Amino acid sequence: MQHNYSYQSALAASERIAWKVDDIIGGDKRLDFSKPFMPESLAQVKQLSFLTSEEQLTLNQIRGHEYLSMFGLVEEFILPYVVNHARAQLSGDDYRVRALLQFAGEEAKHIHLFKRFRQEFEDGFGSKCDFIGPAEDIKRFVLSHSPLGVSIAVLHIEWITLRHYIEGVRDNQNLDPQFKSLLKNHWLEESQHTKLDTLIVESVASTASEDEIDQAFQEYGAIGEFLDQGIQQQTQFDVESFVRANGRQLSKSQRDEMTAAVLKGMRWTYLGTGMTHPNFLETVQGIKPEARQQIEQMAPMFC
Ligand SMILES: [Fe+2]
Ligand SMILES: [Fe+2]
Repeated sequence: MQHNYSYQSALAASERIAWKVDDIIGGDKRLDFSKPFMPESLAQVKQLSFLTSEEQLTLNQIRGHEYLSMFGLVEEFILPYVVNHARAQLSGDDYRVRALLQFAGEEAKHIHLFKRFRQEFEDGFGSKCDFIGPAEDIKRFVLSHSPLGVSIAVLHIEWITLRHYIEGVRDNQNLDPQFKSLLKNHWLEESQHTKLDTLIVESVASTASEDEIDQAFQEYGAIGEFLDQGIQQQTQFDVESFVRANGRQLSKSQRDEMTAAVLKGMRWTYLGTGMTHPNFLETVQGIKPEARQQIEQMAPMFC
């Protein structure tokens, strides 16, 4: 892949940005439940014309809760993945050591940030929203794969956070400013993670055999399939959370329609935005061009 990413420049950018959790949430920095949390491109609730605009807002916020929980969850396995990778190379290039440790520190901070937002959501939303888990089991499953397989899945996740912000949030004036600030600050640091993880993927792939590369792409597929099973379960939870929050019974056809819309929105949010991301695909192509073709063939199912 043609790029000019380096550990030194990623570290410099990261040190310039370096926000604190308390800068983003707490005190008078509260969620405003009269506003949507998620951009419509990801939430995809407006097509449900049998809902009032207030009900669409409720479903949008439930998708916001799911987003907080999902990123809290995936960062639980990204953190040990980065630490394990860094531990193996704690000498040599000083910029690399510091950039990787900074990457890990930022993911630990993001886990904390998403938890704080989730607590704030739960205090203000008024009814319970369920989320898949337990996180430990999901982390164990993902980390049971080879470092290259995991690094490709993580690269997918890093790129989607950038896309969510740039395409749906940055120029969106309707969203709750507090939720928007979360997505902006996450994006600011994830911008370095995409570069660092590209460097990690390329470095691990450069010493891998053809078989190991084939295995890594199979593992990327298996991790994606596993996440999709979680997405299908979470779709049911989101619909249940809506019924609980509104006290409204849905007819069978309304429930089916809502389930289909939430499933499509979630698949696009967490899978499609990565499987069609040009930079992700370019890195894949650099390792194995046929893998890119396979991902591109699968992608429409999740778009
Ligand atoms: Fe993060
Ligand atoms: Fe990240």
